[in-house]
Amino acid sequence: MIRSVVRGNGAALPRRIMKNADFEGMVETSDEWIVQRTGIRQRHVAADDETTASLGEAAARAALDSAGLTPADIDLIVLATSTPNNTFPATAVEIQNRLGMHHGFAFDMQAVCSGFVYAVATADLYIRGGLAKRVLVIGSETFSRILDWNDRSTCVLFGDGAGAVVLEAAEGRGDIGDRGVLAASLRSDGVHKDKLFVDGGPSTTGTVGHLRMEGREVFKHAVGMITDVIEATFAEARITANDLDWFVPHQANKRIIDASAKKLGIAEEKVVVTVDLHGNTSAASVPLALSVAVADGRIKKGDLVLLEAMGGGFTWGAVLLRW
Ligand SMILES: CC(C)(COP(=O)(O)OP(=O)(O)OC[C@H]1O[C@@H](n2cnc3c(N)ncnc32)[C@H](O)[C@@H]1OP(=O)(O)O)[C@@H](O)C(=O)NCCC(=O)NCCS
Repeated sequence: MIRSVVRGNGAALPRRIMKNADFEGMVETSDEWIVQRTGIRQRHVAADDETTASLGEAAARAALDSAGLTPADIDLIVLATSTPNNTFPATAVEIQNRLGMHHGFAFDMQAVCSGFVYAVATADLYIRGGLAKRVLVIGSETFSRILDWNDRSTCVLFGDGAGAVVLEAAEGRGDIGDRGVLAASLRSDGVHKDKLFVDGGPSTTGTVGHLRMEGREVFKHAVGMITDVIEATFAEARITANDLDWFVPHQANKRIIDASAKKLGIAEEKVVVTVDLHGNTSAASVPLALSVAVADGRIKKGDLVLLEAMGGGFTWGAVLLRW
């Protein structure tokens, strides 16, 4: 059977790093409060000339380099983002043009922080359905543009950045030993809209709006939702937590990551944590974490890797793949 195998990956971060202490003169907060409640120590913040498209392009180029490919080899770009350069056209199409690609097709995928997991699951279907052979899957965000910088309960939590993978069609045996995407589970439930949303949009206010969140409410639901969807993925693949080499969760909060791993019985040393470095970069968080763990030699060819995310909507999901 056809599998979608990761052939390369890459990442890009804005030049400017903002430390927790940099917030101390802006809102009533402290490095100690932020570290204790979230595990975040710093985040990257985009300058005016750094956008979702430019960061996404840089991550895509890095992923292509690591795959030994050029844009000519790609037939589809799926960009996960909630912070597009424009309401339309899709920022994926802008990235396609920046890469000098005038063949194939590209579209954006909007599932907030779950965007990259949704995008990998979607790209896998395009590959297995025969509509694409090599897909650039990108998560790129500039959440700094939609933050209310006077709201201490949200502005300290998020950061900007981008990550990407190249997925390629390859023949597999159809068992758990195959490389590539092995299982995926996706969920959403709009009843939770008011807990995490942006208070503007083209069809309502005609503005971009700002991120609003009831942090405690999100926290309350997060661990249960994450562990449910991961257990469904384990059941589909007929594996247990012990079979995993690496758990690469959405990087929103160290306490949510720790509690989820503990509930699932995933050993601490198998959990990739980058929330301290990047904050919550929404759809970019999982591919950025992947890029760190691949670059430092932890994730290697043949490793069994579990990706997970949860975000506004609510949306949530998990993807199991062999690197
Ligand atoms: C946001 C979050 C860190 C807050 O931590 P918490 O332990 O739940 O804190 P609470 O909401 O109970 O707030 C405790 C107090 O800290 C205050 N506080 C909020 N932000 C603060 C900040 N940056 N600095 C200092 N104090 C802050 C609150 O105002 C509150 O004060 P009060 O008790 O006087 O009202 C936590 O709820 C969280 O991580 N939630 C999930 C968010 C998330 O992951 N979202 C993205 C999902 S994709």
